[in-house]
Amino acid sequence: MPKRIDFKGVVFAPIAGYSDVGMRRLCAMRGADMTVTEMISAKGLVYGSDKTEDLLHTTDSEKIKCVQIFGSEPYFISKAVEHKALEKFDVIDINMGCPVPKIVKNGEGSALLENIPLAMQVVKAARIAGKPVTVKFRLGVTADKLLAVDFAKAMQDAGASAITVHGRTREQMYSGVADWDEIAKVKKAVEIPVFVNGDIVDKKSYDKAMQITDCDGAMIARGALGNPKIFSDIKGLEIKDYSLKEDIILHLDTMLSFHHENYVAANFKKHLAYYCRGMRGQKEIKLAAFACKSADDIRQVIERYFV
Ligand SMILES: Cc1cc2nc3c(=O)[nH]c(=O)nc-3n(C[C@H](O)[C@H](O)[C@H](O)COP(=O)(O)O)c2cc1C
Repeated sequence: MPKRIDFKGVVFAPIAGYSDVGMRRLCAMRGADMTVTEMISAKGLVYGSDKTEDLLHTTDSEKIKCVQIFGSEPYFISKAVEHKALEKFDVIDINMGCPVPKIVKNGEGSALLENIPLAMQVVKAARIAGKPVTVKFRLGVTADKLLAVDFAKAMQDAGASAITVHGRTREQMYSGVADWDEIAKVKKAVEIPVFVNGDIVDKKSYDKAMQITDCDGAMIARGALGNPKIFSDIKGLEIKDYSLKEDIILHLDTMLSFHHENYVAANFKKHLAYYCRGMRGQKEIKLAAFACKSADDIRQVIERYFV
C-alpha cells in the first residue's frame, strides 16, 4: 500500500551533484519533511546504468522519500517508475523545470512547459506505479511567456498530487530574483497542494514566501547547502549543543557507507566549499578542500578548520 502523504512542510530540493544520500539524510535529521533525489534519467534507469542507480541510495532518516525523474517519452517513464530501484520511494517527482540546453533540446525538463499534452501524458504514465506523482516546474520560458497557471491546471487534470513552482523562468536559469507573486497566482488557480521554491534562505525569507504565496509548503535548494540547520530554524526546532562540524562528519560518513572513497572525495569538496561559506579564511579552506584526494584528506580539512 502506498504511504498516505500530506503534501506540506519544508522540502529539501533536488540539486544535481549535491542532493546525495548524505545530504538528504542530514536535511531530514534537521527537519526536512521530504527529501528529493537529484534528477534521474528515466531512460538511463530503464537501460540499467549503474551510475544512475548510484544516485538512488536512501536511509531510514528520510521521512518522505521522493525520487525525481526526467524524460519525455511516456513509455520510458512508465517503465522507470516500476523499476525495482524505485520501490523504496514514496513519491515520484517529474522534472519539468530543468533549463539546461542539452535537456531542453531533447524535449525534456522545461521543454515540457511548452508541450502541455505531452506533459500530461508523462504524468499519467508515471501514475502507473500507484504512487503519488508530483511535478516541479518554472514560471515559464521568458518574462513575456509565463505559462505556470495553465500548466499547473493541466498537471492537476493529469492527476498530479502536488506541484512545486520555482519562481524563475527558463531564461533566468538560476539567477535573478524568484517571483513569489507569480507563484501566488498558481496557488490560487489549483486545488492540489503547491510548494513555493526560489530564494528561501532563512526563516525570514521562508515566512515572506509563505505569506505572499499562501502555499502549502516550501522547497529549499541552495539555502540548505552548507546549512542543513535551515530546516530546524524555519520550524523553530531547537537542537541542543548544535555542531556544524558534527553534521559535516555525519554527512561524510553517510556517503562513505554507500559510495567508493574516490567518488566521495571528488564530490565532498563542493560541499566543503558551501560549509565554509561566511567563515573567516574561507578562501584558504576552499583551496585545501579542492586539493583533497581521499576521505582522510577531507577529514583533515574538517578537523583543521571547523570547530
Ligand atoms: C547546481 C544545481 C543543480 C540543480 N539540479 C536540479 C535537479 O536535478 N532537479 C531539479 O528539479 N532542480 C534542480 N535545480 C534547481 C533547484 O532545485 C531549485 O529549483 C533552484 O535552485 C531554486 O531554488 P533555490 O533558490 O532555493 O536554490 C538545481 C539547481 C542548481 C543550482
